[in-house]
Amino acid sequence: MTDPDRYAVFGNPIKHSKSPTIHALFAQQCAQSMQYRAVRVELDAFAQAATKFFAAGGAGLNITVPFKREAFEFADRLSTRAARAGAVNTLTRAGDGAIEGDNTDGIGLVRDMVANLGWAVQGLRVLLLGAGGAARGVLEPVLRERPRELLVVNRTPQRAQQLVTEFTELGPIEGGAYDLIGERQFDLVINATSAGLSGQVPDLPSSLLTERSCCYDMVYGPEPTPFMRWSAHHAAWAVADGLGMLVEQAAQSFYIWRKVRPETRPVINQLREAMAAA
Ligand code: ATR
Repeated sequence: MTDPDRYAVFGNPIKHSKSPTIHALFAQQCAQSMQYRAVRVELDAFAQAATKFFAAGGAGLNITVPFKREAFEFADRLSTRAARAGAVNTLTRAGDGAIEGDNTDGIGLVRDMVANLGWAVQGLRVLLLGAGGAARGVLEPVLRERPRELLVVNRTPQRAQQLVTEFTELGPIEGGAYDLIGERQFDLVINATSAGLSGQVPDLPSSLLTERSCCYDMVYGPEPTPFMRWSAHHAAWAVADGLGMLVEQAAQSFYIWRKVRPETRPVINQLREAMAAA
């Protein structure tokens, strides 16, 4: 019997990563011979650790905070969406030995919204909160769903304006400060800020939601996030956190590596139950 193929997620911190659990469930479900570990990499040692991992025969890596930019620089080749995102969350050793970088975060978000939650993005008025790495990583897949309009707002307006410049050829994107929202209404609001991590919600006019609006927070946790609570309080039609996105981005990485697409719903359900029981 040959040794299982080796995969890992590199990050710092990494202790609470759910990726090993998710990939173990996928591997079991799809009868794949592989192992997947979580590795805490020192902040100044990403390239060194990744080089060592692949030199020792590693097959693929997931990359999480704070190394997605460094992984982008580390890759020998980039998918177009990773090149545009400026960040890589999946590294794969190709047949010719080159290391390929991809970004599956945006596909993960879109699959969770469209396939799992039934929120078709096409034709919708979409508001994206935040213009950091998380927002940049999802813009291309979201624009490819052909929303009617996409407004990106950010506390530091220049960062939103920069995204507009970079993504404008992909669709109807505009952006700047929060006051651009004004009295406009949106069908879908996606929170890509880290405000919730400090218990905050960006300053939003309550008039922006209609009775059909869906609100998605890319963050997740055992309790509803501050943005989810704000959305429910303002009578959003549906509210979701980012647990499904986490599982879907992992599924896309798994597919890149193994060429098999795992079923995500049982894995999402299992994680949700474990989180509630903890
Ligand atoms: P990430 O990779 O998670 O996107 P990041 O690049 O540091 O991390 O970006 C964090 C995002 O959350 C930014 O859009 C940030 O706004 P600024 O660009 O103005 O810093 C946003 N953010 C963080 N705290 C916020 C708060 N309290 N209110 C509004 N936006 C906030």
